[in-house]
Amino acid sequence: SSFQSQLKDGLLKLGLPKEVLEFIFNLTTGSEDHLKIPEAKGSINAIKNEPFFIPLYELYLTYGGIFRLTFGPKSFLIVSDPSIAKHILKDNPKTYSKGILAEILDFVMGKGLIPADGEIWRVRRRAIVPALHQKFVAAMFSLFGEATDRLCKKLDAAASDGEDVEMESLFSRLTLDIIGKAVFNYDFDSLKLDTGIVEAVYTVLREAEDRSVAPIPFWEIPIWKDISPKLKKVNAALKLVNETLDDLIAICKKMVDEEELQFHEEYMNEQDPSILHFLLASGDDVSSKQLRDDLMTLLIAGHETSAAVLTWTFYLLSQEPSVMAKLQNEVDSVLGDRFPTVEDMKKLKYTTRVINESLRLYPQPPVLIRRSLDNDVLGKYPIKRGEDIFISVWNLHRCPNHWEDAEKFNPERWPLDGPNPNETNQNFSYLPFGGGPRKCIGDMFASFETAVAVAMLIRRFDFQLALGAPPVNMTTGATIHTTEGLKMTVTPRRRPPIIPNLEIPTVKADSSLSIPEVKTVSGQKDEVSSALP
Ligand code: HEM
Repeated sequence: SSFQSQLKDGLLKLGLPKEVLEFIFNLTTGSEDHLKIPEAKGSINAIKNEPFFIPLYELYLTYGGIFRLTFGPKSFLIVSDPSIAKHILKDNPKTYSKGILAEILDFVMGKGLIPADGEIWRVRRRAIVPALHQKFVAAMFSLFGEATDRLCKKLDAAASDGEDVEMESLFSRLTLDIIGKAVFNYDFDSLKLDTGIVEAVYTVLREAEDRSVAPIPFWEIPIWKDISPKLKKVNAALKLVNETLDDLIAICKKMVDEEELQFHEEYMNEQDPSILHFLLASGDDVSSKQLRDDLMTLLIAGHETSAAVLTWTFYLLSQEPSVMAKLQNEVDSVLGDRFPTVEDMKKLKYTTRVINESLRLYPQPPVLIRRSLDNDVLGKYPIKRGEDIFISVWNLHRCPNHWEDAEKFNPERWPLDGPNPNETNQNFSYLPFGGGPRKCIGDMFASFETAVAVAMLIRRFDFQLALGAPPVNMTTGATIHTTEGLKMTVTPRRRPPIIPNLEIPTVKADSSLSIPEVKTVSGQKDEVSSALP
């Protein structure tokens, strides 16, 4: 009853442990009405025209932190309760597999790290995680900086031509260029060129997304799968990507064979700091199919997510000019015109909070998928083996009881001198990178990559939604996309002179004081950052 839940909330606020309360309330209310998970009857049609996590939010407000959604013979458990999410992800992860996700992604990721389960996952995780060591992440800063600088040049050109730009596709290309170099030392150069391989990567990605939202597995229909032109195109694209990966593996093997470096914990080849190079040098004993699956998984995991974070961060910033102004102030005073380094990350506190808050409002992906491998108990409900479960991170991140003004983009909700919010210090009410043993392995990489990109872009330009831009609505594949792009007007900033901040000794007066040479003649570009090392 509502009285009971109010009482419980009150006692919780007084500091009584939740477990104790749960126990007492279960004793006093009897158990018969606790054993059946609330059931919401859905219809696929209701879900067709909007991203599926929106109706799940409405149902959550009605049915609570765990409910069953049934269509015909299919049923899913929808989890939006932090302690149940913690149970599945962190306390009892061995009882859960990736379920449907692994089935859908099999054609592209095979047994790569995201879909893999059990022993294969354990072995691969142990091999791959060490590759993302501190020295590797620090070395990535020049890559983040150079790639973002190329995007800045592109925006300069658009700005001087007076053209609006569609930022979502540019962010997608930015993060593709970065992840290609980081994972297997390949320069897609997709901000400049549309090569066959770039197009093939996108064909494969779109197919993965189509499959994740398809009501039936069309790719398994016997005759269709052999004659469908779309599937033929997908297969050709996959073949090209796989051949390219095989070539890159061969090139990298040769480099490793010829180099004199000793392998050690923080091993890194300066010419090729890629994850692939680390794996081969470590003597990673693995089939070439498995290695390819892992590379492909890293490529996809590190590309779409970061691009989506940048897209929604810029959308949110365009809606809150005061946040944008504060952000620009911080970046001006911390960075001046330098490329960001790993040391700057500690000082870019507000920038980090902006990204934390963007990840709260637009978690990528918005739901985590699991399947129970055994009977278990979720909250007070026993469940059987074989249940398909969606953990709605979207619901956790927007729960109106947990978050003040849950819908508001308010980076100030995270104090600047407080800890960096994560699933542990937020008790699974906030889990932008998942949690437990399957937590994202690229969390540091991605946090720094997005902070560098945001900082470098907003110090050079002002961004506004373009006049007459299409409305920014959501749609989903694996991550949240816009329906019609993010069309923005980009204008070079005319900055006031920066007062040198004497408390920050690393900012040299000569670089922090220089004001970018804003273009004077149409077509002439701002050369400030290209003059940097
Ligand atoms: C897993 C989010 C960037 C590699 C995950 C998970 C989340 C996530 C939520 C957990 C999935 C689950 O439990 O089902 C993000 C976000 C990113 C990002 C929001 C960007 C802002 C990256 C990058 C890489 C990466 C850059 C690679 C360099 C992975 C891998 C896994 C994973 C390999 C699977 C780990 C495992 O199952 O053991 N990511 N990720 N991610 N992520 Fe990320």
